[in-house]
Amino acid sequence: MENIWLNEAFKGEAPNGFQGQVGWQSPSNIALVKYWGKQGKQLPQNPSISFTLSECRSETFVSFEKADKFGFQFFFEGKENPAFGAKIEKFLLENQAFFPFINRLTLKVESRNTFPHSSGIASSASSMSVFVMGLLEIESLLVGPSTGSGTLDLCKASNFSRLASGSASRSVFPKMALWGATDCYKGSSDEYAVSLENDIHPVFKTYRDSILIVSDTQKSVSSRAGHGLMEGNPYAPARYAQANENIKNLLAALKSGDLDTFINITESEALQLHALMMCSNPSFILMKPNTLRIIEAVRNYRNETQIPLCFTLDAGPNVHLLYPESEAEKVEHFIKNDLVTYCNQSRWIADHVGDGPKKLP
Ligand code: PMV
Repeated sequence: MENIWLNEAFKGEAPNGFQGQVGWQSPSNIALVKYWGKQGKQLPQNPSISFTLSECRSETFVSFEKADKFGFQFFFEGKENPAFGAKIEKFLLENQAFFPFINRLTLKVESRNTFPHSSGIASSASSMSVFVMGLLEIESLLVGPSTGSGTLDLCKASNFSRLASGSASRSVFPKMALWGATDCYKGSSDEYAVSLENDIHPVFKTYRDSILIVSDTQKSVSSRAGHGLMEGNPYAPARYAQANENIKNLLAALKSGDLDTFINITESEALQLHALMMCSNPSFILMKPNTLRIIEAVRNYRNETQIPLCFTLDAGPNVHLLYPESEAEKVEHFIKNDLVTYCNQSRWIADHVGDGPKKLP
């Protein structure tokens, strides 16, 4: 299927003297049903669902100026960063049919993350979505906002973010997002994520995510390589079927506020993601001994206290603890007393469900 925004791409050129700066912040997100395995042009093998975070975010200013040809510079935390800049530049050049106006602009991107970059937290979701928000604002300065309502079109932002990094497609929506076509949700698409904000029980709108930093070292497998390894993974078809089943049941649990089902699916998805890596060829073990110690402690705590605390994992050793806001005092006490001992330099990040990208003054 042809991407619906290809025909609509603004084909004009920036007028002489066109210059300025736009600034946006955009959050990271944590998947509950995981996207692991892709097809075609950055399309998912199965739908995924995530919480949009709040404290872990990227803040980016894009300065633009009319020029004879495309120019690009990327600064991360004040220093030029050609490696990360190359990723964004590649995304722009591969997708220039969507934004031909950049061919006559020089762009200088200055980005920072609110979370420590040595925390092992993936930043592609926040950093790619924030850049796309800036790019769409520049386009809107040339043509007027695409919705005509003075705001940027979030489905379009999600589509372009997806082309840069799959999980980034989910970061542009407040509270929760679903990316990937499923019969269980009208309007869902492989091309962009959709907001679940109006289809979730209030308990999830203020959910907490305390991120325990078990290790801050770089991942031994990039997510690009990890997705690629699903192609030869003998368990892949069963995994995609299971993910679809989990999407169906999680959507129902999110609507009704059924925390038992939420916990069951969320923990199973985290463990399946790591199980898939363990049975890829070559195989990877991204959990550390302290990851397992935390998981065991969380399950014991839940059994003893009946507090609905659960965990999820990204493609790394750090543990995301998910729980209702009403349990925050007790869970934070548990973290400080029993769990920080398993964290690298006792580090953890108190995050919570958030509102999506915002324009910076
Ligand atoms: O967006 P990518 O290509 O970095 O892949 C993200 C994969 C996971 O974070 C492991 C799962 C997910 O759905 O976010």
